[in-house]
Amino acid sequence: MMRFKKLAVAMAAVMALSSLVIPAAAEEETQKIGISMPTQSLERWNRDGSYLDEQFQAAGYDTILTFSDNDSSQQVNDIQNMLADGVDILVVAAIDADSLNTVMDEASEAGVPVISYDRLISNDASAYYVTFALATVGAIQGQYIVDTLDLDNAGDNVYNIEITAGDPADNNAPYYYNGAMDILQPYIDSGVLNVVSGQIDFDSVATDQWATQTALERAQNILASYYADGTQLDAWLCSNDSTALGVAQAIESDYAGDNTVIITGQDGDEANLANIMDGKQSMTVYKAVANEAVVTLSLVEAVLNGDTIDETLIENSDWDFECAYDNETYETSEGVVCPSFILTPTTVTIDNMQEELVDTGYYTVGDDGYLVAVG
Ligand code: GAL
Repeated sequence: MMRFKKLAVAMAAVMALSSLVIPAAAEEETQKIGISMPTQSLERWNRDGSYLDEQFQAAGYDTILTFSDNDSSQQVNDIQNMLADGVDILVVAAIDADSLNTVMDEASEAGVPVISYDRLISNDASAYYVTFALATVGAIQGQYIVDTLDLDNAGDNVYNIEITAGDPADNNAPYYYNGAMDILQPYIDSGVLNVVSGQIDFDSVATDQWATQTALERAQNILASYYADGTQLDAWLCSNDSTALGVAQAIESDYAGDNTVIITGQDGDEANLANIMDGKQSMTVYKAVANEAVVTLSLVEAVLNGDTIDETLIENSDWDFECAYDNETYETSEGVVCPSFILTPTTVTIDNMQEELVDTGYYTVGDDGYLVAVG
């Protein structure tokens, strides 16, 4: 009888303990972050993916990281799998701003918040947006061309230019194009700049999937059609590095004129930094994606904690880089503003590459003297 009583007491104690333990364990369950990147075929997304993954894991989260091979239906599948896996929040760089509607609605129904990463998703499920100042990237590229050709003192000179923009499915691409064209158009209108091919509007100069090969082939066609007679080419506006790589290759192989064509870019891809060192590309607009990941981590933590999200996220941070809160510019649908955190891009040329990229720790110098991205 005594024994039985002891056993009953012990069992009651165990049950009481376990009823205490179970909710505590549930509270401590590790939260899971779904990170959906567009593709591994473009260098920067590999860096974004690994920075995000590392930083979230270091902060104690579980992560699922996918790359969707620039295939938007694949990205829908990848995100659906993350939802099925019970992610607490999604960080998504969309391949196509408009193709994620169904899966975004599914995220909403599941109560899973979405952060648009770098590229805004056109769906109100996107609660917040983290990116680099989009129009500024284009403006920097346009202004670089104006300054380098000294267009304000052109006199009677006419300079010849061609234009290559990004993927029409990517929400960012028109911002880059428009940012640059706002600067260049007055010079085109006054006749100081001449787009010899006549291909100026966004649709004629866009590059599906930002593909190097597509940019290369279009540049070869333009060079064969308009420059084979010895017409001088002075500048080629390229919205990013993957397209600049194709254009530089076409100029190297298919342009007979002197090789001082100004070529712009964006991202700081290793091949392009090598081209800048070799004089085959003039500049790139560098976006420190490591910092974009830092902002995203803080934002996600605030969302998961249920904090108020506004400029105080920046004010309370110890970030050593610029970031602005913007609650006006970006809309996920007509009239629905997406509160945004906007980082500042940097101009990189051969002259400041060491200072901006190596001294800052973003790149190291490899054995061959070219830069290698850290991370
Ligand atoms: C854009 C992005 C650029 C560039 C491009 C190609 O959306 O903002 O930095 O990488 O895609 O991936």
